[in-house]
Amino acid sequence: MAKITVNTKNKKFPTASSLYGLFFEDINRSGDGGLYPELLRNRSFDDSIIPDDLSPVGDNVQNETGWVYEIGHGEGLPRWREKVAPTDVPAWYAVSADMALDTADTLNSNRSAALDVDFQPNGSIYNIGFSGVPVREGEAYHLYLFAKAEAPVDLTVSIESDGSVLASKALTVRTVGYVRYDLTLISKGTTKTARLVITAPGGGHVKLGFISLMPTDTYHGHGLRLDLCKKLEDLKPAFIRFPGGCIVEGFSKSTAQRFKRMVGEPWERPGYYNLWGYRSTEGLGYHEYLQLCEDMGTDALYVCNCGMTCQARRCILMEEDEIAEYLDDALCALEYALGDKSTKWGALRARMGHPDPFKLKYLEIGNENNGDEYDRRYEIFYNAITERYPELVIIANTHVENSGLKLDIADEHFYNRVEWFAENSHFYDNYDRQGPDIFVGEYAVVAGNIRTLYAAVGEAMFLIGLERNQDIVKLASYAPLFENVHYAAWEPDLIAFDGLDNYAIPSYYVQRLFGSNRGDNVIESTQECEPVYAPYLRGGPCLLGSVGVKFKNPLWNGEPVGPTHEIFGRVIESGDGALTTEISLSEEEKARAERFGMANSVMIVLGSDEQARAGVFEAEVFADGESELGIGMFTTPYGKARNSADSPYNLFSVQPVRWTVKDGKALLTSGGGFRRVTLAEADVNVEAGKYHTMRLESDGKVLTAIFDGVTVMTADIPHYDEMQSVVTDDDETVIIKIVNIADVERDVEITLDCPVESGYAASVISGLPTDKNTMEYPEAVVERHMELEGAGKAFTHKVPAYSVSVLKLKKQG
Ligand code: AHR
Repeated sequence: MAKITVNTKNKKFPTASSLYGLFFEDINRSGDGGLYPELLRNRSFDDSIIPDDLSPVGDNVQNETGWVYEIGHGEGLPRWREKVAPTDVPAWYAVSADMALDTADTLNSNRSAALDVDFQPNGSIYNIGFSGVPVREGEAYHLYLFAKAEAPVDLTVSIESDGSVLASKALTVRTVGYVRYDLTLISKGTTKTARLVITAPGGGHVKLGFISLMPTDTYHGHGLRLDLCKKLEDLKPAFIRFPGGCIVEGFSKSTAQRFKRMVGEPWERPGYYNLWGYRSTEGLGYHEYLQLCEDMGTDALYVCNCGMTCQARRCILMEEDEIAEYLDDALCALEYALGDKSTKWGALRARMGHPDPFKLKYLEIGNENNGDEYDRRYEIFYNAITERYPELVIIANTHVENSGLKLDIADEHFYNRVEWFAENSHFYDNYDRQGPDIFVGEYAVVAGNIRTLYAAVGEAMFLIGLERNQDIVKLASYAPLFENVHYAAWEPDLIAFDGLDNYAIPSYYVQRLFGSNRGDNVIESTQECEPVYAPYLRGGPCLLGSVGVKFKNPLWNGEPVGPTHEIFGRVIESGDGALTTEISLSEEEKARAERFGMANSVMIVLGSDEQARAGVFEAEVFADGESELGIGMFTTPYGKARNSADSPYNLFSVQPVRWTVKDGKALLTSGGGFRRVTLAEADVNVEAGKYHTMRLESDGKVLTAIFDGVTVMTADIPHYDEMQSVVTDDDETVIIKIVNIADVERDVEITLDCPVESGYAASVISGLPTDKNTMEYPEAVVERHMELEGAGKAFTHKVPAYSVSVLKLKKQG
């Protein structure tokens, strides 16, 4: 039995109307071939051309620090490339024709290549699009191309699939400079895997400067993919954050995002290598993002580069004159959005079809940047921008107020496992109410149970916490938003699509449910329920500590136990019965370990007791006077972590409870990565030059750490409430959101201080924890709506196992 008590008389604060929004980043090829429905890949022919500030490493590139990026000769990540036939010009193939890039005679100075084609009679070239050119029967597609020829050449442009011509038109390339030709093609069939074929029946020599094929039916007629925009619109987002993400930061100067590159006519935009492994044409540019926000009625939130590249990818810091250049880029972006049409950039906006300013509300300075170098750049940007645009709401990547700087909102990102989100429902309860507002700019369950109902329920537990704290948490957005199923670089993503179809993961439906049931005020409520002991805490013991630390006689439940998985470092049998550890990691692994504060430490799993929740582990550990000593428990991998190697046993998926001792301080900690939690701490007397016995006992609920036979500390095994709830209201309705992460249905006793009608509405998302949506079953997990009877000042409502519910009670009188 669980309980919720509601006090409608105590209205705590108004709900934040901006809470649920979207974060769009061009990742997983979600721009070109996705939200921006260009159907031809490599429309500008420069996908394989390497920018001046990167150097080639085989088919990939590296930046000036040696950071290697996989671009696979413009095809992108190796797993994408494996699926296509080799070609010199990505996505383009020739039959009875010679095709080569011409980097001298290009369409304009922003184009780095043209496609030079020598057709034999009936020779052709074709483009395979983004894993096929998708078309629907009866729909119209607009094709335009810029071409030139020395003698007139007749071309046939067609959409073909398995030998059938679905649409076709003829044109003659004339003997002048580059000329634009426009055609409309209406498809006679539906397929996701057509090709765009250009044939020269009589042969001839042609240069193509640029070519585009897009559907004519788009969202508000502004060029973006209809079904994907509708999917976003259904969420009724309060804001859209764009254009990134790490792509704003880049991994070199040319790959860092700039406003000036992403405005103007599409064929004049240079495009750039985006940090997720492919070239983007930036046809989906600044204007298109602002237009999307306007069409969807949401606030716009622009993120600008602040003069530094991605800090997780060997950051390149821009020097003073370059910082000034990046600042100027941001100021010009603001003028484009907000300036009137007499200004330089406002005039360009007007020429591009939008005479009135756009309503850009927020500016975020940098993405996931931090530290002194960020603070310095942030301050320069903040001062210059607020002087000219005092009404803009400024978002910082960190709590720069701690460095004495001004901000309106701090952006915080959370990628973690389900239980972390469940455990952290109270994350914001004790935040400083005098500090900046909070933007949870990116959140997602990324380990173990991705895309499942269970993941969505875990996130919902956290979202309830945001709702309870929406006096300071003003905005939140899941990340990333889109994934082209053929080009996943990061999983999970909120919405998956191919050329014609899409589906959303359960997290989407949680956001839709919460976002469409807001209420006007958060009202006082209390809850009682059972605890859940974190299900990821399972498994046998491990050895931890510094490189070179020596262990003897490890015993698990009294039985000798030996190394089974060398997660971090390796074991050397030293001959005297001791197991000595050492680290042997690649440079890349070391860099990662340093980021996680784990340089110079080892982790070796012993035995294979994968289901253990209780047990006793002890080992003799040699104190050399310097090393950290440690043992741990609960080493069963937590699913397969994102970007991890094939073995499920790795640094990110194995997150034991650790008992460590260093400099006389004993610590019990849990969790991994950036968010290690201290469960208990104590002093211990460690004598250097001898073996000590470290013993860790678990009864499934409590941990006990024993040193040389003496208990030094105990701690509860991490657990969290199985239910989270929040209550809001408006004049007519009391809205109760309830998340139940327990594996059983629960009765919830609800007590209110006001009369309500017996009939009430319940919207529920529930199912098996492993349930997922797929392209075949896109709504396997979706909210169900029910009209129920029996509400009153005190009533019982049943919530299913693994469920997210919204109850709407009608106030009486
Ligand atoms: O959402 C994917 C990435 O995660 C974003 O680009 C970045 O901001 C974060 O690290």
